[in-house]
Amino acid sequence: MDPQITVLDAGGQYCHLIARRVRDLGVYAEVAPSETPAGDLARRRGVIISGGPSSVYDPRSPTIDPALLDSGTPVLGICYGQQLMAHLLGGLVQKGERGEYGFAQLDITAADTIFRGIEGRQQVWMSHRDLVVKPPEGFIVLAGTETCPIAAIAAPERRLYAIQFHAEVVHTPSGRTILSNFLFDVCGCRRDWDPAGQVQAVEEQIRAVAGDRNVFFFVSGGVDSTVAYTLCLRALGPDRVHGTYVDTGLMRDGETEFVRTNFAALGARAFAVEDAQARFLDALAGVIDPEKKRHIIGEQFVDVQEKILESEHFLDGHWILGQGTIYPDTIESGGTANADLIKTHHNRVAGIQKLIEQRRIIEPLASFYKDEVRAIGRELGLAPELLDRHPFPGPGLAIRCLGSERNGVPKRLEDGWLLPVQSVGVQGDSRTYRAVLALEQFPASEEEAARLINRLEGINRVVVAVWTAAPLPELRVSPAGLTAERLARLRRADAIVRRLAHESGFDKEVWQFPVVLIPAGTAERPDSVVLRPIDSVDGMTAQAVKMPPELLARMVRELSALPGIAGIFYDLTNKPPATIEWE
Ligand code: XMP
Repeated sequence: MDPQITVLDAGGQYCHLIARRVRDLGVYAEVAPSETPAGDLARRRGVIISGGPSSVYDPRSPTIDPALLDSGTPVLGICYGQQLMAHLLGGLVQKGERGEYGFAQLDITAADTIFRGIEGRQQVWMSHRDLVVKPPEGFIVLAGTETCPIAAIAAPERRLYAIQFHAEVVHTPSGRTILSNFLFDVCGCRRDWDPAGQVQAVEEQIRAVAGDRNVFFFVSGGVDSTVAYTLCLRALGPDRVHGTYVDTGLMRDGETEFVRTNFAALGARAFAVEDAQARFLDALAGVIDPEKKRHIIGEQFVDVQEKILESEHFLDGHWILGQGTIYPDTIESGGTANADLIKTHHNRVAGIQKLIEQRRIIEPLASFYKDEVRAIGRELGLAPELLDRHPFPGPGLAIRCLGSERNGVPKRLEDGWLLPVQSVGVQGDSRTYRAVLALEQFPASEEEAARLINRLEGINRVVVAVWTAAPLPELRVSPAGLTAERLARLRRADAIVRRLAHESGFDKEVWQFPVVLIPAGTAERPDSVVLRPIDSVDGMTAQAVKMPPELLARMVRELSALPGIAGIFYDLTNKPPATIEWE
């Protein structure tokens, strides 16, 4: 399907959010590298240039083919996109005296096409330092804020528009109207996109790609692989689709049974569970370093999968590999491809690599975003418990069960206690591995928590001790590794949190809710639990979320009764500077 709109990627995740919004408005959009030649975009109804972290004066910053701006195709520049458009057309961009991050009041002075239906003063979301100080020749100024007087410009007869604020984020309430005005009034788009309406086309495509070959999947039980599997099952019938689930022993309570029952209910006849618990635990015994753990888990997965591929003859010509890859995973451009390694995620099984090279692979969801995958899943009649699951990391509970090589005691700091437990963070695009600050009570505000992190060298996380069996300074860290006993302890704590979050409906208010075990405790109760409810759009950034006090009290009551648990902490840190998972 040809996109009507192309979003040019000027850096990172902004472009995907824009493309998702455009699709939400019923118009099929795709993302492409910013420097895509204008000739390749000639058939688009419009082009949007995304935001990005660069400055137009940096010689390495992303740019676009300038011919696009003379081609007659409507173009909308957003944030960096506005600066780039102004810069390329002879306007002036400068570094602002101070940045503008967060909410701003926008005064619309010329209610031109893209602002149609929006009056006077509007709340918008800004995130920039550079700004346009002189528009290009022939452009009019449509709107401004106090800090940024040129916050929207246009040359309507050339069909060029640009805005400094982010119309794609929910914090700009009129953003949807502005995008809709651009799509339908300026570009003349028609509504052509409804993911749930794509089911039949996707099934036909599966049949065409598979031909007379069968499909096998390694399923994780997550939304993407389940929907992809179901589509193949419907397209090819139950005898031609095989699924294997690898039980690593690092899963949550009841997970393996959940997956088994659900796949049976889908009508999957050839579905197998591979019990690999012992080998994962053996390989991880005594390993503390998070990256080492991740590597070992990756290697074990490779090993198990390789064995299954060979012993089940999946590498012969009758089989192709099905995968639940979704659209953002397929794009390699700009910032996303060059991003620093914060954590090791993916591992390449040689057999799978070979199948990819031979193009013996089927990815039915490769043009869909996560929300769209859910819409397809609903269309297929999949149960909400399957579709609305929080994401769960491949390495499972292993990266939520922290160990320690040494003994240690909390150290008194001005603002709280330094826990001798290290966790992974991300600061300025680089990985950090630092100690945790534990407060004895909730800070007055989120700003207060952020201030503490910025002020203290050597920490990347702030937690509050919600309950402790002994005074906080008496919680000692002792040498501990990843053992079956500690995993079982974490699994029980996680099951309690999951049940209570579900019963209260709180699980719908958060994007993910990791529960972490740290080796800080007393002789009889060696561990503590950390609650980490967060909100996020895509996992790239995240905000810590406060839960209702009654719910927290209920969790504390049940968790404190668990054997072996000496403390309950609440993680208040956003990403950045922390990461969502602790390892
Ligand atoms: P971090 O901890 O990096 O996590 O802020 C961001 C999101 O990614 C998930 N995550 C993983 N998912 N394999 C996965 O499939 C992994 O190795 C992995 N590590 C982290 C994490 O749960 C969060 O949603």
